Amino acid sequence: MTINRSLSVEEHEKLVEKANDYVKKTSPEVQQDPHRLSFHIMAEAGWINDPNGLVFYNGEYHVFFQHHPYSADWGPMHWGHVKSKDLVHWEPQPIALAPNMEYDEGGCFSGSAVDNNGELTLIYTGHVDHKSPKEVQCVAVSQDGIAFSKLEENPVVSMPPAEGSEDFRDPKVWNEGGIWYMVVGTGKDNKGKAALYSSSDLREWEYVGIAAESDGTQGVMWECPDLFPIAHKHALLLSPMEMENTKTLYIVGDMDYDTGKFEQGFSQEIDFGFDFYAPQTLMDDQGRRIMIGWMDMWGEKMPSQEKDWAGSMTIPREVQLVEGQKLAFKPVEELKQLRGERHSFSNIQVMDNQEGYLEGLQGDTLEIRAQFDLSTATASEFGLKVRCSGDGQEETLVVYNPNTQQLYVDRDRSGIGNGGVKGGHHEVKDDRLHLHLFVDRSSVEVFADGGIMTMSNRIYPSPSSQGVDVFSREGKVNLQSLHAWTLKPMS
Ligand code: FRU
Repeated sequence: MTINRSLSVEEHEKLVEKANDYVKKTSPEVQQDPHRLSFHIMAEAGWINDPNGLVFYNGEYHVFFQHHPYSADWGPMHWGHVKSKDLVHWEPQPIALAPNMEYDEGGCFSGSAVDNNGELTLIYTGHVDHKSPKEVQCVAVSQDGIAFSKLEENPVVSMPPAEGSEDFRDPKVWNEGGIWYMVVGTGKDNKGKAALYSSSDLREWEYVGIAAESDGTQGVMWECPDLFPIAHKHALLLSPMEMENTKTLYIVGDMDYDTGKFEQGFSQEIDFGFDFYAPQTLMDDQGRRIMIGWMDMWGEKMPSQEKDWAGSMTIPREVQLVEGQKLAFKPVEELKQLRGERHSFSNIQVMDNQEGYLEGLQGDTLEIRAQFDLSTATASEFGLKVRCSGDGQEETLVVYNPNTQQLYVDRDRSGIGNGGVKGGHHEVKDDRLHLHLFVDRSSVEVFADGGIMTMSNRIYPSPSSQGVDVFSREGKVNLQSLHAWTLKPMS
């Protein structure tokens, strides 16, 4: 037994080393791709999906992620790792987990991390397709935050609960009143569910019950649940499977730790873009709740795969409870450090079918803050254009329609990725629409009116398409102010 254990530890170390070597070897070529982002978390090479193990540990932010180091396609999942002191400058770290045990040989699936008195602890799903049950919950620990070893006690949860099914994954752990709690995503009888467990030591887990489940419209399996306190409420984030067009959902509600039940209140899609999935949050030393999502989506075209990499995270967003029951998602303040040259414009009457309003402003890494006055607007639609080519062939539009109150991104002419138009309902208050954009080489993230509505999209325009403009259709609109900054790369 002891011999087996040390053999498996050694084997894990070797697999991690092999994966690191492979990534280092392929990385230089990957960095040549002009669609590489400049201030977002990515793998150095290979595939990534969900953010995992978001944690503030020893004064630094750590983000792990689902990673297939050996190709730009999904494959046996490893955990990649980056860390940062300021949520802006991310340093690559060695791969943390590789699949090698009989309980995780199909992949170390998504999960979370906690600081257990200085021991950085990862809680993840071991996945093996041909086994029953195929998904179990496992723990790996590290004293230095770099090298992780899997516990001998694994799996720490070896069976799904009777109320769940074999789809039983993505544990998210937090501490409340000295007790560890864990939600695990599952589903049964066409209802997504979050199963709740508790523990005093992160090793022995007791099943508490189903904390929350679909009301019949909220999807058949709840991937990546994240349940956390926010102000006087709790919020549950989910990535529900088969909930029509809704890919991610937040539910604000009340958690009763005595009964283990989360009572659902207001709920809404987290992000209305094409490329946002599996978000996870952490709480930092300033008491901020910070969320990062995977800025891609299953089934989407990913042109960077031809260049041996795929996947990026969103910028970190601070989550706040607003209007008593809604969540707002705001770019973290620290991102201001990236600001370079500034361009400002004010009081521009934007007329139907005219262009060239923002002289001198261009770029493929930009932050833009624009405020429109709707009180005198006659336009049927208006908005911002970014990544425009000189010949008018390429452009990505952020559009508001005041009549239908739809805010959306139109990427039908955004380049070589998938096109399409996607957005959602957004009610403008006091006739002022504020749009805050982060543009980074192959992405556009939009935050409207203090992050009450957000849209994250990947786009793949030609590197030379760098124009920015405002536009109006069938009427005029007043652009009260626009401030833009070119953004410096994170390294
Ligand atoms: C979500 C997800 C998780 C799973 C992981 C596997 O995108 O399907 O449920 O743990 O990806 O990579």
